[in-house]
Amino acid sequence: MEIKLAQTAGFCFGVQRAVDTVHTQIKEGSGPIYTYGPIVHNETVVKELEEKGVRVLNTEEDLLNLKEGTVIIRAHGVGKHIYDLLENKGICLVDATCPFVRKIHRIVRKEGTEGRKILIIGNARHPEVEGIRGWCRTSSFVVESIEEAQNFRVEAGEKLCVVSQTTFNYKKFKDIVEIISKKGYDIIVLNTICSATEERQTEARQIASAADAMIVIGGRHSSNTQKLFEICKKECENTYHIQSLEDLDLKTSQSIRCVGITAGASTPKKIIEEVQKHVRIKF
Ligand code: F3S
Repeated sequence: MEIKLAQTAGFCFGVQRAVDTVHTQIKEGSGPIYTYGPIVHNETVVKELEEKGVRVLNTEEDLLNLKEGTVIIRAHGVGKHIYDLLENKGICLVDATCPFVRKIHRIVRKEGTEGRKILIIGNARHPEVEGIRGWCRTSSFVVESIEEAQNFRVEAGEKLCVVSQTTFNYKKFKDIVEIISKKGYDIIVLNTICSATEERQTEARQIASAADAMIVIGGRHSSNTQKLFEICKKECENTYHIQSLEDLDLKTSQSIRCVGITAGASTPKKIIEEVQKHVRIKF
């Protein structure tokens, strides 16, 4: 039996950078080390860091209650008011926002200065999108589905800048942009989908289309893992989403000749290797 492991599986550049930042702070940082939200959507990684003394703060209230220490901003980024809040309190901020997300912050800030309202194609409840909105100087809107795009209305001739959540599905982004483009607004569109996401999705689709079973490894709350699962499921009915090896319940069947494996951007290499090893032994 053949195992096809996606080359793009696992930590992306931004997540690796954020995790490395935490490790550096454990060694060199001052005072207690906190991350604002879990550093990655992966319980194993967060637990390991907790054992090294890193604590997760989840709310603005938690930040307001801080007296000392270092707060690390994760790859998703946060709105400007969080930077201001920590600065006003004199708490050290270490910014591990992925540079691709920072770029979106700069775009929306600049386009807002020029009077454009911001339309983000993505999930309004995702922290990355909340963070992007926190850098907008003008009104911002979020559209996630074709239906929402069809119903989207602003004043005739409105100046809009369209950006996307970095992990959004490229095809859906194009479809939504096409709908918005026909509404007669003065729009500029910037495809801010991260290339890591596109590459990962394309490779996952290719592997799943040739596989008899497909395993997608990643956190339950990881948006890019959920998208990978959707893409793979379309190509291969026999697709499993697992967080770690314990969740894997692959039905051994004679008809399985090729198992594909991919993983979301927040899945550590160690977990991917464990799953790969297990599949190899089992079949
Ligand atoms: Fe950054 Fe792309 Fe990863 S935006 S966090 S490198 S998926």
